[in-house]
Amino acid sequence: MKCAPAETDFLVIGAGVAGLRAAIELAAAGRVVVLAKRELKDSATQLAQGGIAAALSDEDEIGLHLQDTLNAGDGLCNPDAAKVLVEEGPERIEELIQWGTEFDREGTKLAFTREGAHSRNRILHAHGDSTGREILRALYAKTKTLKNISVCEFEFSTDLRVEDGRVCGIYLISDKGEHQQMAASAVVLASGGLGQLYLNTTNPAVATGDGVAMAFRAGVEISDMEFIQFHPTALYLKTAPRFLLSEALRGEGAYLRNIELTRFMTKYHPMGELAPRDVVARAIVHELEVSNSKDPIVYLDLTHLNEKHVKTRFPRIYATCMQYNIDITMDLIPIRPAAHYAMGGVHTDLHGRATLPGLYAAGEAAATGVHGANRLASNSLLEGLVFGARAGKSMRELGPLRSMPAKAEQPRARYSNGPVDAGKEEIVREIKDLMWQDAGIVRTGKGLKQAIQQLEKLGPRVAHPQTRRAYEAQNLHAVALLVVRSALAREESRGAHYRTDFPAHNDAKFLKHSVVKGDLVRFV
Ligand code: SIN
Repeated sequence: MKCAPAETDFLVIGAGVAGLRAAIELAAAGRVVVLAKRELKDSATQLAQGGIAAALSDEDEIGLHLQDTLNAGDGLCNPDAAKVLVEEGPERIEELIQWGTEFDREGTKLAFTREGAHSRNRILHAHGDSTGREILRALYAKTKTLKNISVCEFEFSTDLRVEDGRVCGIYLISDKGEHQQMAASAVVLASGGLGQLYLNTTNPAVATGDGVAMAFRAGVEISDMEFIQFHPTALYLKTAPRFLLSEALRGEGAYLRNIELTRFMTKYHPMGELAPRDVVARAIVHELEVSNSKDPIVYLDLTHLNEKHVKTRFPRIYATCMQYNIDITMDLIPIRPAAHYAMGGVHTDLHGRATLPGLYAAGEAAATGVHGANRLASNSLLEGLVFGARAGKSMRELGPLRSMPAKAEQPRARYSNGPVDAGKEEIVREIKDLMWQDAGIVRTGKGLKQAIQQLEKLGPRVAHPQTRRAYEAQNLHAVALLVVRSALAREESRGAHYRTDFPAHNDAKFLKHSVVKGDLVRFV
C-alpha cells in the first residue's frame, strides 16, 4: 500500500501513545492511516521517563488519584474529564499489559513509585526510566497485528481540508516532498505538544504545535493555551540538550540544592521536593535570582542514595549524564526548568470531538480540561491512552468514507522537503528567545504585550510557507500568539500561569477556561 494514499476511512495525525491507541480502536471499523511527521521514535511518548499514574496498588484508591489531579489543576480541571481519566485508566493499563507492555515489578507485583503532588505511590514505570518507549513498543506491536492500520513515516500534515462545514481530510507534504491531499471521513489530531516554542525544552524537535495551529487556521476553538508546564529539572549544561531528569528521581529521594548546596524546597512548600511542578519550577527560578553568582546554578543531588539502586532504577538517565562526564551517583547534577507540557490545545468534549464536525483531538494536542491549570505528574501517558481510545470509539460512529470529496486546488510548489531554510531558522530562534523571556515561568503584562508586538511584526516573514521547516515556523508563530494572547487576558496567577502583576487567584473573574477564536480570547 502506498503511504500516504489519496483516501482512507480514518486519519490519525501523530504516532505517539494517543495516536496509536486511537488507531487500535478504529481498526475494526475501516482503513486507518497513521501519519508520523518524522520517524516513529521521534515523539514525546518515546522520551517519557517517569511513568504512568493509575490507582492500581493495594494502598491506593481511584478517589485519591482524582483528588490529587484536581488539586494539581488548581481549580480549573474539568471534573468530569478528570473522573474519566482516573476511572478508565486502570482498565487501559491492564489492556496494555495484555498487549505485552513490561512494567517493572517487585517479585510478581507491579512496582509503584511516587512523583510530585501525588499522595500515594502510584506511578508505574518500565525498564527503569524508559516507560514511554516500552509503551510505544507494545502499542506499535499491537497495530502490526491489525491489518487495517498503516503507519506512515515522514508525512508532514500541513492543513485540514474543510468542506461544507466539516473536515474531509488533510493537505500534506509526503515523504518525497510532494504536496498531496488525503480524504478521510474523520481526522484525529494526536500530534503532541509545542515545547519547541521555548529556548529551553525537554520536548523532541517535532513538538512544534502543528495540530493546534492547523485546527486554529481552520477556525476551531482552542483553549487554555496560557498554561504551559515547565519541568523543574532538566539537565543544564552549555554543551548538552535540555535532557529530562525525571521527577521520579525526587520520588526516590533526590534533593534540590542551591548554589550554597543548601536544600531549599521546604521554604516554599510543605511537600518539599515533591511539591507540584509549578511551585518547584518557580522556587528554582527564585533561588537562581537571589544567588549572588554571575552564573547561578541549582543542583539535583542523588549522592546520598544507594548507588546500585540508582543505576538500575534510572539506567537511561545514568548513561546519558555519563556522556557528559556526570556520574549521578557521585556528582551533583546542574539543572534548570524547561518547557515540558502544554495543558491547552484543541478544545474537545469527553469523546475527543473538536468544535468542527469530523475533527477530533487526543493527547497533548487536545484540551479536555483534564489537567486544569497544571498537570499532575505522569497523567499524560494515561491521558493519551484513555482519551485516544475514546476519540477512536467516537470516530467509529461516523463510519467509513462514503464519497471522495472533489480534489481541491493546491496552489503550492511541488517539491518541499528542503533545502534547510536559514531565514526560517532565524525566525524560529527569535520566537524561542522571546517566548522564554516574556511568556515563560514568570510573566508580566508588559512583557506579554511586548511579545505580542514582536510576534505581530514577524507575521509576514512566516506567511506562505513552502517547505516543512517553513510550515513549522508558521505553526510555532501561530501557537506563540495563542499562548501570549491567552496569558495576557488571564489577569491572575493560577497553576503554571504566574504573573507578578497579578500574583493571586481571581476566582470571581477567572475560574474559567480561556477560549481563543481568531484574535479574541474569552473565558467560559
Ligand atoms: C518525569 O519523568 O518527570 C516526567 C513525567 C511527566 O511529565 O509526567
